[in-house]
Amino acid sequence: MFKVFVITYSMYGHINKMAESIVEGLQKAGAEVGRYQVAETLSDEILGKMHAPPKPDIPIITADKLPEADGYLFGFPTRFGNTPAQMKAFFDSTGGLWQKGALAGKPAGIFFSTASQHGGQEATVLTTLPFLAHHGVIFVPFGSGHPNLFDNSEVIGGSPWGAGTIANGDGSRQPSQKELEIAVAQGENFAKIVKKLAA
Ligand SMILES: Cc1cc2nc3c(=O)[nH]c(=O)nc-3n(C[C@H](O)[C@H](O)[C@H](O)COP(=O)(O)O)c2cc1C
Repeated sequence: MFKVFVITYSMYGHINKMAESIVEGLQKAGAEVGRYQVAETLSDEILGKMHAPPKPDIPIITADKLPEADGYLFGFPTRFGNTPAQMKAFFDSTGGLWQKGALAGKPAGIFFSTASQHGGQEATVLTTLPFLAHHGVIFVPFGSGHPNLFDNSEVIGGSPWGAGTIANGDGSRQPSQKELEIAVAQGENFAKIVKKLAA
């Protein structure tokens, strides 16, 4: 048995919805899945002003748990084409693991969400890569592993960097069937690689 942690930050729920399909794909390929979210860093007052709904009942990850997994799929919305601060705060808590090289050689992938098609899906992954590199974590791209990535008949998030969804500026668009299919495929593809590396 090999274990994958799906670790997310989501303010309006799009990433949590994508994570359900990611988990489906991981389990299809035989992974044991741990599902976590990172701690919120914003106050309730600010979250209220941003019209953020209450967080779902998903355990909060702490750095000391990371070594238990054989691989990680991180999911988060973009913030100005960057990793959100909430995810960065979690990454910043992993210094002790970095010192011991505790995550070196383990694989990780990323899935993401933006408001608009051109809002920085790929940049969001690129700006997260230094965290992985410093830990010696192996970034696993999705590749061009699903036909939906070549379908231009409708708006479809995602890219060879990972599964993605487009939320609209007001959050009104939900992950589409085709985006969720890509997310299932990313989970499945990632699990196969984790299995090989963990063997
Ligand atoms: C401070 C801030 C910055 C954002 N920057 C971008 C951006 O650069 N590009 C973009 O397309 N969306 C941007 N968004 C929109 C979020 O990415 C969008 O709300 C998110 O993808 C929805 O995912 P969630 O429901 O999982 O939180 C930003 C949102 C906030 C609050």
